[in-house]
Amino acid sequence: MDEYLFLLNIIKEAGHKIRQDINKPLNINAKSNPNDLVTNMDKSTELFLTENILRQYPDHKIIGEEGQGKYLSSLDGTVWIIDPIDGTLNFIHQKSNFAISIGIFKDGHPYAGAIYDVMNNNLYHVKVGEEAYINETMIPPLNDTQLSESIISCNPNWLVKPVIKEIYQDIILDSRSARSYGSAALDFMYVALGKTDAYLTLRLHPWDYAAGLMIVEAVGGIVTNQLNESLNPLYANSILVANKALHHEIITKYLNKHQDTLQKIHTERFSKG
Ligand code: IPD
Ligand code: CA
Ligand code: CA
Repeated sequence: MDEYLFLLNIIKEAGHKIRQDINKPLNINAKSNPNDLVTNMDKSTELFLTENILRQYPDHKIIGEEGQGKYLSSLDGTVWIIDPIDGTLNFIHQKSNFAISIGIFKDGHPYAGAIYDVMNNNLYHVKVGEEAYINETMIPPLNDTQLSESIISCNPNWLVKPVIKEIYQDIILDSRSARSYGSAALDFMYVALGKTDAYLTLRLHPWDYAAGLMIVEAVGGIVTNQLNESLNPLYANSILVANKALHHEIITKYLNKHQDTLQKIHTERFSKG
């Protein structure tokens, strides 16, 4: 079966299983800190996806947030990058506003991506080189905006952190307003739809951004780190997603002047990129 079609089928099937079990009691555990949580549903969804993908394509590789090939050191061959539930805190607290995110790379090149907003039954998807869609509807190209008339998506946790708040606060102050949604994959999709104009965050992992990157780029948006460098989907990085004009404005007028500090943060936090 065509890999893109298989991707769309399997992500919807995984979402259907989550919807079926949404009211069942959850088994919740902490990971790196007490607010970094994982549930049995994150794990079973990743296992379901992984088993099905490898049954269909035994020579493909997988990077999954909850453990599958997480520390892959090369993107040779076909690699599926999976976040089984992006927005786990939303999933636990709200039972909505979370997504499954899957990006496929072939020999390091983006091939296809899908993000499934499970409870709203919205499937965002793209085969790179073709149009991006929400369900069966093509997503139109993004319009340029200027910061003064833009809505910026940014997790407020970054805006209260010393050093980082100095970098971000002028962007927020000069914008029309800020929003925070709690799922990086959906934050990417709101930029892709023009519901927000930029998404700014200091640290995402490949599974948070792999699919979003492809869908935003397909509608003419720009995705880089905050040093205006392209992303390497093997590594975590800072993120700036925006329409073309706004991306340029944020980099040149706001982030460039903090380049030394940002460079230091990148060197300290990220092994690459
Ligand atoms: C998190 C969400 C959140 C973002 C975090 C991610 P998870 O993913 O996307 O919006 O701010 O950086 O780690 O842990 O819910 O899959
Ligand atoms: Ca995530
Ligand atoms: Ca996750």
